[in-house]
Amino acid sequence: MNNKIIHLKEMTSTSSYLSQLREEETLLEGTVVSADYQSAGRGQRNNHWESEAGKNLLFSFLFYPDFIKANEQFILSQIVSVAIKRVLDKYTKDISIKWPNDIYWRDKKICGMLIENEIIGDRISSSIAGIGININQDVFHSDAPNPVSLKQILGKEFNKDEMLQEFIFEINRLYDQAKANTESIIALYKISLYRKEGFHLYMDNIGNSFNAIIEDIEPSGLLVLKTERGEIRKFAFKEVKFL
Ligand code: BTN
Repeated sequence: MNNKIIHLKEMTSTSSYLSQLREEETLLEGTVVSADYQSAGRGQRNNHWESEAGKNLLFSFLFYPDFIKANEQFILSQIVSVAIKRVLDKYTKDISIKWPNDIYWRDKKICGMLIENEIIGDRISSSIAGIGININQDVFHSDAPNPVSLKQILGKEFNKDEMLQEFIFEINRLYDQAKANTESIIALYKISLYRKEGFHLYMDNIGNSFNAIIEDIEPSGLLVLKTERGEIRKFAFKEVKFL
């Protein structure tokens, strides 16, 4: 893929900007918008995404994934999560993917993503993956529970531009691979999961906590948990919390 990279010092949100641009002109697949600072960076659950100016990677990637069925749209999250993990693995140990698509270092979040799909019929016609990776930030001020940057882990600064190229390269590679065969990416996603082994504490959205083990992830993205009593429970994003 020939990625056009549009970089601006500041914007509200790279995903909002890319989405607006897509309305106004014809963009090629693989177009990337990146920023040094977002005045209104968007996170999951309507949260704000904290990122100090110039310290981290903030970018959004445009796909036209019409080979993906709407009811299997989770594969895009899997492609991007596995790509990010693979690049970060070259820098540090202990990187995992916390379902659905947070990237963790040990028990802390180093990267978050927001994938916004447009669906026509039974296919995904267009998708914007907005990705925030904490690279050189020293201190986090927001109430995000457990952020961490690569600099905090490794004690030195990294070249963000070089790293952006590595992330784009790996996303392209896995995306092309998925066009031929998604199975290996799904397998890589599953073996990379945070808490993939053993029983851990979860809480459902009526406030009941329970111990369970991750049994599977469905193609739609549902998390399948098996409780200590052997009961199978399936959750969509926002329906369960990792405690
Ligand atoms: C999360 O809450 O985990 C998702 C965070 C996603 C943040 C990225 S930063 C680049 C892109 N633009 C945004 O406004 N959000 C995403």
